[in-house]
Amino acid sequence: MIDLTGFLGAAYPWVKAAHVTFVIFWLAGLFLLPRFYVYHHETTIGSPEDRAWIERELPLPNLRFETFGNSGWFDAQEFVVRLPAQGIEVAVKADQTMLEALENAGADMMFDCRKGECGLCEVRVIELEGDIDHRDVFYSERQKDARSKLCCCVSRVVAGSGRALIEIQSS
Ligand code: FES
Repeated sequence: MIDLTGFLGAAYPWVKAAHVTFVIFWLAGLFLLPRFYVYHHETTIGSPEDRAWIERELPLPNLRFETFGNSGWFDAQEFVVRLPAQGIEVAVKADQTMLEALENAGADMMFDCRKGECGLCEVRVIELEGDIDHRDVFYSERQKDARSKLCCCVSRVVAGSGRALIEIQSS
């Protein structure tokens, strides 16, 4: 005859351990899975991640990378952008991007991600009054400090002691 009480008593610690292990993995999944689905993107062709992957001869379809947005150092404020090559001068409102303002004004702009990741919307700075609030994840800190170009899909201009104005040239 089976001693059920003894069997259950002996099995209990193992069942409890399995239960605790299951709960730990379940909670880990709740925290980790959204990261994989929300943050992991395929890389942009020609990006540093793309080139490093190719150099290591790894299969491209498996390549993913993670980026974190940059919300800048200053509150968004209105500024003026000039694009003399296309005869455009337009105010960029606090709730719109420089790229949107230029497009609305009829500018012919290049872009792709609109998230400050690919660098396709890069414009060169001809004149600057105020400072650039770089909000991209494309440039290095050294490139940002040079204040010579910016990603117009996310980055903005903030006023110093005077007005906030930027004159640009499409790259
Ligand atoms: S469109 Fe990709 S960084 Fe601006």
